[in-house]
Amino acid sequence: MMYKLGLIGHPIGHSLSPWIHQQFLDLAELDGEYKLYEGDRYALPGVLKHLKEIGIDGFNVTVPYKQVIVDYLDEIDSDAEILSAVNTVVNIDGKWKGYSTDGEGYVRSLIEPYPNLLNRETSVLVLGAGGAARGIYRALIGQGVDTIDIANRSQDKAKDLLSLRLGEVKSRVLSYQQAEEHLAEYDLIVQTTSVGMKPNVEDQVIQLDNIRNDAVVSDIVYQPIMTQLLRDASKRGANIHHGHAMLLYQGQLAFEKWTGKNLAVAHLVDKLENKLRGE
Ligand code: ATR
Repeated sequence: MMYKLGLIGHPIGHSLSPWIHQQFLDLAELDGEYKLYEGDRYALPGVLKHLKEIGIDGFNVTVPYKQVIVDYLDEIDSDAEILSAVNTVVNIDGKWKGYSTDGEGYVRSLIEPYPNLLNRETSVLVLGAGGAARGIYRALIGQGVDTIDIANRSQDKAKDLLSLRLGEVKSRVLSYQQAEEHLAEYDLIVQTTSVGMKPNVEDQVIQLDNIRNDAVVSDIVYQPIMTQLLRDASKRGANIHHGHAMLLYQGQLAFEKWTGKNLAVAHLVDKLENKLRGE
């Protein structure tokens, strides 16, 4: 069988997904292709019609279609429905089912280097309250984490996230200043905003003066690989976790849904890093 896979979004010309999924196809010794299906919002219905016609086996969905894609699905996974966002579509006997792999992919990428980090005693601070933060918040609850506070520039948006009542957890909404003051309380700090992303590589969403040196700082930004926040955490002796690992494990989970293959991909984290550095 020849797997037909791909990505829809706009713009996606620089996406690393074709490279990532080619690695997975090679690892799994499967025949297939992963193509970019770029189109602005006027082109979207035509692109989706084409994917139906070719009988695509599965595809990823990125900005700006993670919400609108829902209108074109036959079924939606309960997590994706709660988060109102879909990033992976699976063709099941001609019917399209939507999933969100952000949160679980993130957790997988974190557990790989830090297998004992997430448990009932873990105290987490999430920076940001957007789409990425929602998925991660939900998946961390799924790991039984006891405390997940949310700091965001817009406090209302953080409150909206709490009001979704995604599970049994103690959560407070904090300002970034309060988060800085309380920093020593956290075992894990997850940065989910776009702050620090190229070209604004000097930006850092909070200062880490009060961080404990046994804490893990995780940044989902992967361009650059070493963000200012991670640099600061490292300087203070804390542990770090890079954003490109999440990208890889999100892909791993999507690939698993499409092909049924659960691949060991840890060795690809460094290879992806080299790719991102242009080596
Ligand atoms: P995504 O799906 O990538 O999470 P999003 O839903 O647009 O994107 O959410 C963006 C997040 O980054 C939000 O938490 C946003 O903060 P606000 O809710 O206060 O807008 C945060 N963000 C983006 N730019 C920011 C900046 N310059 N300073 C602080 N926070 C920022």
